[in-house]
Amino acid sequence: MNLAPPPRSLNEAGSPRGAVAFRTLGEFLAQLESRGDLLRIRAPVSRDLEITEVTQRVVRADGPALLFENVPGASMPVATNVLGSARRIALALGSSTVEEVSDRVEKLARLRPPAGVVGALRDIGGTLEALSVLRSLAPKRVRSGACQEVEEADVDLDRLPILKCWPQDGGRTVTFPVVITKDPETGEQHAGIYRLQQYGRDRLGFHAQTHRVGASNYRKWAARGEPMPVAAVIGAEPATVFSGLAPVPEGISNFVFAGFLRGEPVPLVPARSVDLEVPAEAEIVLEGVVDPMERAVEGPFGDHTGYYSAPEPFPVLRVTRITRREKPVYLGTVTGKPPTEDAVLGKAVERIFRPVLRLLLPELVDLNLPTEGLFINVGIVSIRKAYPGHPRKVMHALWGLGQMMFVRYLVVVDADVDVGDLSEVLYRVGLQADPARDLELVHGPVDQLSISNPLPNFGGKIGIDATRKGPGDGFPRPWPEEIRADPQAAAAAERVIAAEPVLAQLLGRPAP
Ligand SMILES: Cc1cc2nc3c(=O)[nH]c(=O)nc-3n(C[C@H](O)[C@H](O)[C@H](O)COP(=O)(O)O)c2cc1C
Repeated sequence: MNLAPPPRSLNEAGSPRGAVAFRTLGEFLAQLESRGDLLRIRAPVSRDLEITEVTQRVVRADGPALLFENVPGASMPVATNVLGSARRIALALGSSTVEEVSDRVEKLARLRPPAGVVGALRDIGGTLEALSVLRSLAPKRVRSGACQEVEEADVDLDRLPILKCWPQDGGRTVTFPVVITKDPETGEQHAGIYRLQQYGRDRLGFHAQTHRVGASNYRKWAARGEPMPVAAVIGAEPATVFSGLAPVPEGISNFVFAGFLRGEPVPLVPARSVDLEVPAEAEIVLEGVVDPMERAVEGPFGDHTGYYSAPEPFPVLRVTRITRREKPVYLGTVTGKPPTEDAVLGKAVERIFRPVLRLLLPELVDLNLPTEGLFINVGIVSIRKAYPGHPRKVMHALWGLGQMMFVRYLVVVDADVDVGDLSEVLYRVGLQADPARDLELVHGPVDQLSISNPLPNFGGKIGIDATRKGPGDGFPRPWPEEIRADPQAAAAAERVIAAEPVLAQLLGRPAP
């Protein structure tokens, strides 16, 4: 298939903030191809299990995005691993590195509207900037869009190349949809990535977990006894996809955030059969309703834990209409034990949202949510400790902040400890935490996919205070002094190394 022509260059920003907007998934794939970061697979590959096996091998090799052009029985190509590397995520979000995206998010987070009239008068420049940024980010309402080039009222999901990823999966599953729901009280739209397991020609399992905004919206519609309108977008442009999986702070629209990331507003068009607005330039949109009375068993499904999620009843999305481009690309992803595309995305999310956490908790120096801990099981934070009990204050603050509530093992270290150096962190935990005193054991909400808590969604969490202790911490003994090099002796050693070529080579120094 022909992808859209390679888009504007990195410098052709289309935004006062210098970001690059990829207006369609096709544009992004074309850009990747022109950079040698997309591979077309022309050999036939089955959507049942085989796309998984090829994708997993390429993800493990830190390879390119994949476009499966020959999927037997499918009339459209399937793209996977599209956001499976930090470089592709950065490019998708209009930057050259994830750190650059993080810097932009930090600047946005710092644009706080001033308090009241006095604040506005004092900071008129800041106000204007905040207003102009916000205005430029709001979605643009349009009347028509490529996502509605074709409209299918006779719904047959079998016409889509929906993937079966793992052998024991309960069915084929739409793995990377941006699922749009609406709060019936405020009318506010929300977008989240929730998988949708196929039950037949026109039904899908609506797998929004208990703590998600999509599940909260569903509960509100169900309390009214009304069906909830839903639009599931398969193949939005990459900033909207990223915005759907990112923990965007409550009160900020995903589409405004996507507009910020891509450097220009996301155009939204009214859906054809439900009262929702959908990204006009998307590839495929599944429109439908979730009835408050209907549930069906969802799963098992090979999840990002590396285990199958147990079969459980979930609400059902009845698809009433499919709209799509004439020649769409189907966007999929494969979850499983890391390394996977979503693990790479998880690390990028941690980097990009770190400034927001720092703004809320100014004592926070750094944060590491290791891939091995699946981003929610294990967290390590370094802090500028200022008073007795400070590490515990930080633990509780983090457990109270959005999806940070899911972190089950939370280690707090001093500001000078590199949270990314796990051997250093273990050294500090082993030496500096007293298990009889420095553990904060609590109960609370845990992730729905967490497997070791006896009750679903509720379980234990532990904080480990591995900071240095002083009298204020109830530590009456003097804290021992750490061994530090003698600066003069260290300088003398460097002179010796510089004078001895074999030693210099051994220690990786430039040859004398
Ligand atoms: C590939 C992928 C698949 C996901 N699948 C699900 C899912 O099936 N159900 C779910 O609740 N969250 C899923 N998530 C996580 C949500 O998208 C994520 O928590 C997001 O921030 C939405 O949260 P919110 O609805 O509370 O805003 C998935 C994330 C990724 C990257």
